[in-house]
Amino acid sequence: LTMAVSAIALTATVNTASAACDEGELVIKFSHVTNSDKHPKGIAASLLSDRVNEEMNGKACMEVYPNSTLYNDDQVLEAMLQGDVQLAAPSLSKFEAFTKQFRIFDLPFMFKDMAAVDAFQNSETGQAMKESMARRGLLGLEFWHNGMKQFSANKPLIEPGDAAGLKFRVQPSDVLVAQMQALGASPQPMAFSEVYGALQQGVVDGQENTWSNIYGKKFFEVQDGTTETNHGVLDYLVVTNVDWWEGLDADIRDQLSTILREVTETRNAAVGEVDAEARQAVLDAGGVIRELTPEQRQAWVDVMKPVWSQFEADVGAENIAIAQEINE
Ligand code: LMR
Repeated sequence: LTMAVSAIALTATVNTASAACDEGELVIKFSHVTNSDKHPKGIAASLLSDRVNEEMNGKACMEVYPNSTLYNDDQVLEAMLQGDVQLAAPSLSKFEAFTKQFRIFDLPFMFKDMAAVDAFQNSETGQAMKESMARRGLLGLEFWHNGMKQFSANKPLIEPGDAAGLKFRVQPSDVLVAQMQALGASPQPMAFSEVYGALQQGVVDGQENTWSNIYGKKFFEVQDGTTETNHGVLDYLVVTNVDWWEGLDADIRDQLSTILREVTETRNAAVGEVDAEARQAVLDAGGVIRELTPEQRQAWVDVMKPVWSQFEADVGAENIAIAQEINE
């Protein structure tokens, strides 16, 4: 049954995708790894493709491939450099091989909330980061928000010591590896599409993610519970291939940039709602959420924040100072 259902889902995706494209149109493939509804990235990608397919009809068309149906998040950037896909929005932790600047976003407790993340990204420093990988062939177009990360595991996590000795899936990021080591846990970098199975089979004991990912991929079903730590941020960069982008006709590039900018503004402004809905959906589906007292949360800060010093040279002390000023 599962196979039949996914075969139908795949056919539906392909049909929708090809229906949007007529002969002679510039084909823009957008590959991502999350679900499409009740998810900040899924919703933004759908809105972007709806607008492109309507407003640029005859000139360009966009096909969106969600749920890792086209590429996994460890393959998509290579595929983009090969010219096989034109847009993606990997989380900032996935650019490890291209730039160390984004490590600031993975440092635990660096940003107090999504408003602080938004302000930092919109600062001169944040905007300059979009071009930090141009030499390597990738151009960042817009930051897309998801939300703050929470920890889940196969046992209750209240004190930082509760995570010690457990295996945690992390995104492929040295900062996240160091963060889990600071907790005495064992970090296991893994692609997003493999996380549910790894939790279910006990290959790992826990993971960290946002409410929309915990709900969207049903991680809560195979965990004891989720602790609301808000210990870090998971955000995205909409990225493209520099040569492809620069090779576009100026009018097409301008129209695409404008639509993308408007979609970014609209959806980034709505991200708090999507996050809260996903959190509530976890509860409604029977998932357990544990809240921490300020003292309990502070204990996590005390154990995890020292990792900043390991990465200060990569991210720049001045950038840390800018982020901290924004928090105030
Ligand atoms: C993850 O790998 O946990 C996330 O980056 C997935 C995503 O794109 O939200």
